[in-house]
Amino acid sequence: MSKRISIHGQWSSRLMFVLAATGSAVGLGNVWKFPYMTGDNGGGAFILVYLLCLALVGIPIMMGEVLIGRRGRQCPVNSLQTLSIEAGASRAWGWLGWAGMLAGLIILSYYSVIAGWTLAYLMRMVAGAFERVTAEGASSIFTQLVTDPERLLAWHTIFMVMTIKVVSRGVGNGLEKAARILMPCLFLLLLIVLVYAARTGDFSQAYAYLFDSDFSSLTLSGVLSAMGHAFFSLSLGLGVMLMYGSYLPQGVSIARTSVLVGLLDLVVALLVGLAIFSLMFANDLAAGEGPGLIFQTLPIAFGQLPGGMLFGALFFLLLVFAAWTSSIALIEPLVAWLVENREIDRIRAAIWSGIVAWLLGIVTILSFSSWSFSFNFAGVLKRHGLFDVLDIAISSIILPLGGLGMALFVGWVLPRESVLDELGGSARIGFKIWYFIIRFITPAAMLLIFLRAIGVL
Ligand code: PFF
Repeated sequence: MSKRISIHGQWSSRLMFVLAATGSAVGLGNVWKFPYMTGDNGGGAFILVYLLCLALVGIPIMMGEVLIGRRGRQCPVNSLQTLSIEAGASRAWGWLGWAGMLAGLIILSYYSVIAGWTLAYLMRMVAGAFERVTAEGASSIFTQLVTDPERLLAWHTIFMVMTIKVVSRGVGNGLEKAARILMPCLFLLLLIVLVYAARTGDFSQAYAYLFDSDFSSLTLSGVLSAMGHAFFSLSLGLGVMLMYGSYLPQGVSIARTSVLVGLLDLVVALLVGLAIFSLMFANDLAAGEGPGLIFQTLPIAFGQLPGGMLFGALFFLLLVFAAWTSSIALIEPLVAWLVENREIDRIRAAIWSGIVAWLLGIVTILSFSSWSFSFNFAGVLKRHGLFDVLDIAISSIILPLGGLGMALFVGWVLPRESVLDELGGSARIGFKIWYFIIRFITPAAMLLIFLRAIGVL
């Protein structure tokens, strides 16, 4: 079969794909969620389980998604449809792409609100608002921000405009350019913050906290969170990696590249964790603080340390960059679908998609004030109403189900020769192991998580 090309263009090199895919993977999940989840679930033990999830489920599925994308060379819906028709299977596989596109839009809607918080915090750090702040002071700054819908809406709007701006410029001038500029800056900022944390913070305690395993505090729900987080962190199950794979030049090794992206994502999460916990422990702050960790607790640490405002500002800038390169990935499948199927130009497609996500974001904004309600989930009290409902539904149900769909598609629908051809053509032992994992192990693991998440197991 002659190889297709994408109408949207392609990455100019393997490195650009690595930067863009890592940009999508490294986001609020690494900096905001991973540290507090590790803190809540027993440190090193959680990390060990997370590593297993990456190796057995995350990276194999990433390879599968990238492979479908490069084979189909279109948005997720169209790639899945085209490939299933060619394989003599049902067109209904396109629904997997639809579900992912919708989930991407929902994630973007709340992602942008939280990214708005980070913009607000960046400004506050620059203005020195946390200088010598007390715990009560930091918590009141946070509460004032999240219970002020108008201010949240303003930051959410700014972030959404930033996202639309990049995506409307297309693959080469938009997505690739953002990755080329923002990712090296992000790595540099991470290095600076890390050196600062190592010099002013308690590095050895942070190291011990992250890498000493305490299996007694690891629960089943911790294991499930690790799995859900592996999906979220690697941007899997929604077709985003599929989309990025559709821009991948022929001839680039999907296996090696996916492993590299997975490792980079992990390394960033661990280094951020080391930096954050070093600063916290040096100031005798508790680690298991939940989602407020970087917004309520970490600023106290920055406020006490020499040069804290400057390095705090750099930290939040890092977070803004990380969120930005992820949000453009979240919206890209829908934009590409609109361009392919509705024949509107990219600029309009980006604006319309952005407006829908922006409107949905209002649900999250109000979840922190007038619409807030509490509920119990897996023994944990959730206090932010619909925002928590969306987050849980996406990470624990939709993404794993999407991952299951992708694994089944690659393992059972696509002909083995196509899969082999896309992966470089030789059925060596590595291929056989991966193929076995994607056909049997990953689907079984996904099914278990799903059954557990809906309470059947
Ligand atoms: N991987 C991103 C993070 O860890 O913050 C979140 C994300 C981005 C999820 C893009 C899904 C996605 F398609």
